[in-house]
Amino acid sequence: MQQVNVGLIGGGTVGGGVFRALDRNGDLLAARTGVRIRVHRVAVKAFDEPRKVAIPESMLTTDWRAVVEDSGVDVVAELAGGTTVAREMILTALRLGKPVVTANKALLSAHGEALFAAAAKAGTNLYYEASVAGGIPIIKALRDGFVGNRIPHLYGIVNGTCNYILTRMQQEGAGFDEVLKEAQRLGYAEAEPSLDIDGWDSQHKVGILASLAHGFWVRPDQIHVEGIRGVTPLDIRFAGQLGYTIKLLGVVKSVPDRRSERTGGEAPVVVAVYPALVPNAHVLASVQDAFNAVFVRGDLVGDTLFYGRGAGQDPTASAVLSDLVDAARDWIHQTPRRIPPFVPHASKGRVLPLADAVSRYYVRLAVVDRPGVLARVAAILGRNRIGISSVIQPEGHPGGSVPLILMIHDAPNRSMARALRQMGRLAAVKAPPVVLRVETFA
Ligand code: HSE
Repeated sequence: MQQVNVGLIGGGTVGGGVFRALDRNGDLLAARTGVRIRVHRVAVKAFDEPRKVAIPESMLTTDWRAVVEDSGVDVVAELAGGTTVAREMILTALRLGKPVVTANKALLSAHGEALFAAAAKAGTNLYYEASVAGGIPIIKALRDGFVGNRIPHLYGIVNGTCNYILTRMQQEGAGFDEVLKEAQRLGYAEAEPSLDIDGWDSQHKVGILASLAHGFWVRPDQIHVEGIRGVTPLDIRFAGQLGYTIKLLGVVKSVPDRRSERTGGEAPVVVAVYPALVPNAHVLASVQDAFNAVFVRGDLVGDTLFYGRGAGQDPTASAVLSDLVDAARDWIHQTPRRIPPFVPHASKGRVLPLADAVSRYYVRLAVVDRPGVLARVAAILGRNRIGISSVIQPEGHPGGSVPLILMIHDAPNRSMARALRQMGRLAAVKAPPVVLRVETFA
């Protein structure tokens, strides 16, 4: 049996999980692949840090270079996270011609192109299945399974923390702050939660998915990001009454424009993260708790759904093991670039800024309950050529103001922003309008 030696960088949740998974399923992997994958050395932050998974002390070092540069290490798994030292670790391993496996979405999102170029230059490979949606094999699906498809759209619930919070808010009618605190207490949310709840983690992941789906690297600054801090129980309830569930979506949509239609070239792509109303009849509406799901439409395959755990020790280990097997096979068979990590193939690929696209909207205004208010709101929308698909003023809201809910047909985002500013200036409108996009998945 051929053997491949792995150097792990990181002995914490992810690294420890990989170590334990190799121990548990190493025989199975060997039987299935003909390759024995063995951990050779592990770089950790400190020898005495608490570790849930025990790793033999003889394997440990606190010097990542001692792992990467060890001639006995064939494949490096960077599972430490961060974007500075981790970048150096990966580049060093690649320059030595060693394949690298990483789960580092923040790093790939920011420096993916340069890292892939370094891998190509060194004639080796970089694998990153665990970087998006944890245990769900969505990278392989886009890179290999759907290689024959164009991808008109892809929607992902790719942040488990946000999905957990939104699910609890919906089930309990509780406010965002209260549920966030509870999620932090239970360990579902980080003590510093902004990476998750402000949408940045989703931005990293959706950028990687968009790049794979469309063949050019989508930079983080091209991705519109809104998080879930502004989602209220009131809007979750009204959305429910209208037949929708609010989800934080990563959105990748091909939007044909005049230029692409005239030239027959690639349509530009909207890449964004925002909380949206999802029709209850759509499968993404029923993705609950910390689960992730990615809904992909291919022009040949049609609609597909990938569902599973997007984080956690074992699901992440599952993805890393799959990459380690690919890297090990390449190492054994000397086929280092059999599956290149990312092939830019759309030289004219473009991102369409969300501001230049159209969206459907849910708008909630807090208005004084007086005759003529609805007419003034409707007049603003009319002047901006924005169509209303329905209006509801739910009863039973006594007080200084009442909610007025407007469902808006597809509207240019710039016109909508202007109309909202004008509505906000009406004396009868008592609070800044609440605005959420509505997805139809058409
Ligand atoms: N914090 C992420 C989540 C997992 O809540 O889904 C790691 O990206």
